[in-house]
Amino acid sequence: MEERLPRVICADDHEDNRTLIAETLAGEAIELVSCASGDAAIEAFREGGARCLLLDVRMPGRDGFATLEAIRALPGGAEVPTLFLTALRDVDTFDRARELGAEFVAKPIRADELAGRVRTLLQLAGYSMELRAHHAELARQRDELVRMQLLRELMSAFLVHDLKSPAAAIQLHAELLLRDPSLSADARDSAAAIRALAQRTTTLTCNILDLTKADEGQLRIERRDVAWRDVVRDVASTLALSAREREVTLSIEVARDAIVSGDADMLRRVLENLVENALRHAPPRSSIQILGTVPDGSCAELRVRDRGPGISPSLRPQLFERFGPREPTGGSRRGHGLGLPFCRVAVELHGGSIDVEPDDRGACFVVRLPLARPTLARQNVS
Ligand SMILES: Nc1ncnc2c1ncn2[C@@H]1O[C@H](COP(=O)(O)OP(=O)(O)OP(=O)(O)O)[C@@H](O)[C@H]1O
Ligand SMILES: [Mg+2]
Repeated sequence: MEERLPRVICADDHEDNRTLIAETLAGEAIELVSCASGDAAIEAFREGGARCLLLDVRMPGRDGFATLEAIRALPGGAEVPTLFLTALRDVDTFDRARELGAEFVAKPIRADELAGRVRTLLQLAGYSMELRAHHAELARQRDELVRMQLLRELMSAFLVHDLKSPAAAIQLHAELLLRDPSLSADARDSAAAIRALAQRTTTLTCNILDLTKADEGQLRIERRDVAWRDVVRDVASTLALSAREREVTLSIEVARDAIVSGDADMLRRVLENLVENALRHAPPRSSIQILGTVPDGSCAELRVRDRGPGISPSLRPQLFERFGPREPTGGSRRGHGLGLPFCRVAVELHGGSIDVEPDDRGACFVVRLPLARPTLARQNVS
C-alpha cells in the first residue's frame, strides 16, 4: 500500500505568501495544505490532522495564535509542531509563540531556512527521547539568542530614531546662525562645522533606519513625478559648503526630461550619499561631475563622477555590501559602510539599478531609473 506523505498545514491570508511557501517546499516529501485563514486551517486539521503547522501571525479574523490555541484543543493537536511565520520583530510576539510551544521564523522568508526548519520538525517525531531532549536544549539556546537579538534591535531602533530629530534640529539651528551677518569668522566656522556634523548624523541615522525597514520588508516609497534636476539642485545646495571647504567644484548638467516616478526624499538621500562619498575622496581643486541623461527614452541615468583614487576592480563585488569593502580604497576618512547599501536598496525599490562604472581617472557611480513617462521622453540636456 502506498504510504501517505506527512501532511503540513499552512495558513496565510496573503496569496503571494502561500505561493512562496508552496514553491519553497515544493521539493519536500510532504503533502502541503494551504489555507487562506485560521478557520480554514482548523477545519483542515479537524479533517485530516497534520504533522506540522505553518501559521502566519497577523491574519484577519482569527490570528495565528488563536488558530493554534484552537488546534491545540483538538484531538492530536496538543503536540503538533508549529512554526509561526511573521514579519513582526518584537519580543512580545516571540514570547507568545514560545508560550504556545511553537517556533518562530521571521519574514521575509528565506527559502533554505524554512525548508530546513520544516524538515527538522518533521524528523523530530521519529527521534529517540535523548535526541529530542538535545534538540529541545539547542532550540532553547537558539531562542535565547534570537530573543537577545530582538531586544538589541529594539534598543538600536530607539537609539537611532531618537537621534534623528535632535540631529535635524541642530542642523537647522546651525543654519539659522549662519544666516546672521554679524557672526564673527570663528563663530561662523564653528556653526558650519556643527551643521556639517549634524548633517552627517542625519544621513547616517536615515541610512540605518531605512536599511532596518528594508530588512523587515517595511520600506515603502511614496511615488510622484520627480525631476532629477530639482533633486540635484537641492543636494548641491546642501553640500555646497562642504564642497567649498574642500575646494571642490560641483559641475552639474541634467536633462530637463530626466523625470522619474519615485520618492523625492529617498532619491535625494541616494544622491546625497553618492556626492558625500565623492567629496570625501575627491582631491582638492578637482571637480565632481553630476550628469543626468535620458539615453534611450525609457530610463534616466544619473552619474556622479569624481577624480579621486577610484575603486579597484577587486573591491567592486563588496562595494554595495553593508559595512563596505574590507580594505579602504583610499581617501582621507573611512565612514560606516552603510551609504552604498542604502543607495542600492532605495534604487532597487524604485525598479532601478546602481553600478560603479570602470573609469581610469576616479570613481563613477551610475543610477538608472525608469522614466515616469517613457513614451514622452526626448533628450534635452541644458
Ligand atoms: N567616490 C568614491 N571613491 C572611492 N571610494 C569610494 C567612493 N565611494 C565609495 N567608496 C568606497 O566604498 C566604501 C563604501 O561606501 P559607503 O558610502 O557605503 O560607506 P562610507 O562612505 O564608508 O560610510 P557611510 O556612507 O556609511 O558614512 C567606502 O568606504 C569607500 O571605501
Ligand atoms: Mg558613504
